Amino acid sequence: MPSLSNPESRALPVHVGIIMDGNGRWAEKRRLIRSQGHLEGLKAAKRIVKAASDAGIRFLTLYVFSTENWKRTAEETGFIMGLVKQYLRGELDFYRENRIRIRHAGDLRGLPNDIAAELAAACEETAPFPGMQVVLALNYGGRDEIVRAVKKLVAENGETPITEQNIRSFLDNPDIPDPDLVIRSAGEYRTSNFLLWEGAYSEYYVSDVLWPDWTKEEFDRALAAYRGRCRKFGGAA
Ligand code: FPP
Repeated sequence: MPSLSNPESRALPVHVGIIMDGNGRWAEKRRLIRSQGHLEGLKAAKRIVKAASDAGIRFLTLYVFSTENWKRTAEETGFIMGLVKQYLRGELDFYRENRIRIRHAGDLRGLPNDIAAELAAACEETAPFPGMQVVLALNYGGRDEIVRAVKKLVAENGETPITEQNIRSFLDNPDIPDPDLVIRSAGEYRTSNFLLWEGAYSEYYVSDVLWPDWTKEEFDRALAAYRGRCRKFGGAA
């Protein structure tokens, strides 16, 4: 679904995406192992989910694990998967209390069976909740999402023309509006395959702060920066 925000009323982004980068550097700076950085990154994710919900954000997409992150060592990928499981179990009460819905973007088939099952159960249980929707991008790649969408479109509707609207309808969460704001921590200026289709007209905000150091104040700074942007969606000002 195209962005719900219009250029005149852009006080608060409806959908925020976050590339949570810098866990490894946070750990290296402290001479700790990378896993320690991911552990602190998990705590930051909890803080920011709460901050976003308190701020009235409707949709929050967190880039937890990309299709390319499997290139890391088995030790690191295994540790991150363990954290995901821990998060899904440990945070469910918070999601229940705050009526926040959990959703998934990415290819469930490429995840370990136990994680896929845990994620599917959390999505199902929280599906009726009317509060903020948190999309966990897990085994997610923007190119992979587009390829899967086109394959489904061709397989299910052989006669249907290939149009933007038809491809969009087969993306992972077609009912969620495009992200108005994409935040990236740790100072890198790249998309890293995150929400390539949906982010075509997103405003980008890059912060030098490493992800484990993110607080509500840092998140509020990103929202304030967004308020100063003028969105034209390719039109003239
Ligand atoms: C990028 O930092 C971070 C990741 C690939 C993992 C993100 C995972 C978490 C924040 C924990 C799990 C969160 C949830 C919500 C379940 P990096 O390791 O690439 O950092 P670097 O570039 O400094 O090495």
